Amino acid sequence: MPRIVIASPDAIAEAANLLKAGEVVAIPTETVYGLAANALDDEAVAKIFKAKSRPAHNPLIVHIADIDQAENFVHITPLPRKIMNAFWPGALTIILPQKENSGISKLLSAELGTLALRMPAHKTARALLKATNLPLAAPSANASGEPSATTPRHVADSLGDNISFILADGACDIGLESTVLDLSDDVPTILRTGAITAQDLEPYAGNVMIDTGNKEKPKSPGQLLKHYAPKIPVRLNAVDVKPGEALLAFGSITFMGIEGGGSAKDLPESAYRNLSKDADLEEAARNLFTMLRDLDRPEHKTIAVMNIPDQGIGIAINERLGRAAEKQDIS
Ligand code: TXA
Ligand code: MG
Repeated sequence: MPRIVIASPDAIAEAANLLKAGEVVAIPTETVYGLAANALDDEAVAKIFKAKSRPAHNPLIVHIADIDQAENFVHITPLPRKIMNAFWPGALTIILPQKENSGISKLLSAELGTLALRMPAHKTARALLKATNLPLAAPSANASGEPSATTPRHVADSLGDNISFILADGACDIGLESTVLDLSDDVPTILRTGAITAQDLEPYAGNVMIDTGNKEKPKSPGQLLKHYAPKIPVRLNAVDVKPGEALLAFGSITFMGIEGGGSAKDLPESAYRNLSKDADLEEAARNLFTMLRDLDRPEHKTIAVMNIPDQGIGIAINERLGRAAEKQDIS
């Protein structure tokens, strides 16, 4: 099993040394845990793909410390700069045309000619970026196809002996992956929804399109993959619980019944989680992946999920749940 080391200054220094030496390290961010490596180093980047069993055609996000550093790797015109100034550091990944001589490993960008960049807000991630002075490639720290990890324990459960060092800093504040915004084309387009919504972006970006799954010709290779999927089926918009199901609730379950008799309130602890008893969408986002993992047990037939309002970060929660329910299995 990997070492799980609390993010003290010494641990951050050790992680920085490992990254500079070409190793992979799992790191906390405010969205989800990432599996980081030096983005300039082909061998280090190859280790990420191997540890995650990630298909080579799915490109990685590069994390940077500031806009000046980003400038080494991509062309930044006034619109992206305005958006960076407004939303960075934060849960927004921006795709831009990559510079010819960026030095970024070719393995990482899957020869798309573009690069996805994010400046994280998490203090430990920022300290690490500063200590290494490197652009850090970091996809979510989970085996490809599994839900993203939002705690050090989930990183260890998902990647196990494929990695050796987890820089641990508790549970992630947001709990869902960053919004991915493509600014490499004429129309700003969201390729993955997240905490930052189209509505948040429009005052800066003008009209924003959302394109999270054109299966014929996906803009984001990751859109093709079976993502965020528990092993057992997921049933959405449940208004009752069927025999043998587990319940992932949102808000009150006072009036929720079990088909054939009984109340959802009587479900055993192992078959019931509530994303947010107060119907708070931010709390629900934080809990989503942990609770899906908790309920993903072979003794349950299905995970029944209550309706979640399609507003704010609820849009991103519903996108993840929709993929989990669909079980797209193309990869
Ligand atoms: O919150 C996050 O974004 C986390 C933390 C660790 O920063 N990272 C993350 O990375 O979720 P990953 O690799 O699991 O998801 C990145 C997504 C993938 O769907 C990938 O296909 C897409 O971004 N992507 C990366 N580079 C791209 C590019 N140049 N063009 C289109 N899509 C790209
Ligand atoms: Mg991922």
